[in-house]
Amino acid sequence: MTPIDEMPLRKIDHVRFFVGNARQSAYFYRNAYGFDVVAYAGLETKVKHEAGYVVRQGGITFVLVSPLRANHPDASRLVLHGDGVSDIALQVDDVRRAYNLAVERGAVGVIGPREEKDDFGVYEYATIRAYGDTTHTFVNRDRYHGAFSPGFDPIDPSRYNPSTYHPTGLLAIDHIVGNVEEGKMNEWVNFYRKVLGFEQLVSFDDQDISTEYSALMSKVVQSGRGKIKFPINEPAHGKRRSQIEEYIDFYGGAGVQHIAMATNDIIKTVRALIANDVSFLRVPRTYYDNLRDRVGDIKEDIEELAELGILVDRDDEGYMLQIFTKPVQDRPTLFFEIIQREGAKSFGKGNFKALFEAIEREQAIRGTL
Ligand code: FE2
Repeated sequence: MTPIDEMPLRKIDHVRFFVGNARQSAYFYRNAYGFDVVAYAGLETKVKHEAGYVVRQGGITFVLVSPLRANHPDASRLVLHGDGVSDIALQVDDVRRAYNLAVERGAVGVIGPREEKDDFGVYEYATIRAYGDTTHTFVNRDRYHGAFSPGFDPIDPSRYNPSTYHPTGLLAIDHIVGNVEEGKMNEWVNFYRKVLGFEQLVSFDDQDISTEYSALMSKVVQSGRGKIKFPINEPAHGKRRSQIEEYIDFYGGAGVQHIAMATNDIIKTVRALIANDVSFLRVPRTYYDNLRDRVGDIKEDIEELAELGILVDRDDEGYMLQIFTKPVQDRPTLFFEIIQREGAKSFGKGNFKALFEAIEREQAIRGTL
């Protein structure tokens, strides 16, 4: 039996962000990215130590959490990391079994298997450490029918008016990228393979992609029959300071670099996001000059892609369209990718050069190149 069969991971259940002001973050994810705010935990729901907002769009669930006092066990994260992803929760069939197997294989346990009960059923979870201060929580909600988990109530409709909610067409998390310290990529790839039963993807990105441009190395692991994809980056030496080093410097260690969210109409999604003042990285107009030669026939209008700054790449299986936001906090750390896959299963290697040059221009403005 392969490790994958021993520890079936279904999908990403949710991503937990630890932030300075969850109330305001919820407003940002709702009104800029088009997430619906669906549940709330805090003093009014008898949660004394933190406030949490569950935001959801399509199959994507984010939980935005802020400490209410300095003695919150994670309060120091905010000084060290700023806002960022604290946990990637994975849905499993059997929380206890997943946790015990992971720990047996070398994972560091954070919270042992727990059941939390309320009027809506039983919510099961357990947490292990991943790279940096990031954790993975195994979740099973098969016996839970509440708003999110015990402690959370449905959002008060007087706070957010449904008539002012406008989704942007984001459907699912495509992949979540982690930046780890120099020399640690293989260690974490092995963690996902050996401890959590992921397979390493043989992809175009599975090689040294350090160049004269912002240098990094990247490998991709996947589980859940491809529903969970985690590329892992480490800095490599180039002529300039690697964007990964910049991240690790400002985040204070390894952590989540970007979350790619899938849409099936990237033009419509990006138009909506731009209308909401989401800012994207831009590549020079010349990127589009020989695009047709590079990627062949695509159904989208290249003029429209150029106007919006959407990138295109092709592999053996098809093509894909992608665009990257600027960091979503003042620190140059977490950002988002919007992706539309038309058959391609890779991650846009053909765009790295143009993209890294765009990032380097931003780094130069920040004085961190
Ligand atoms: Fe990506």
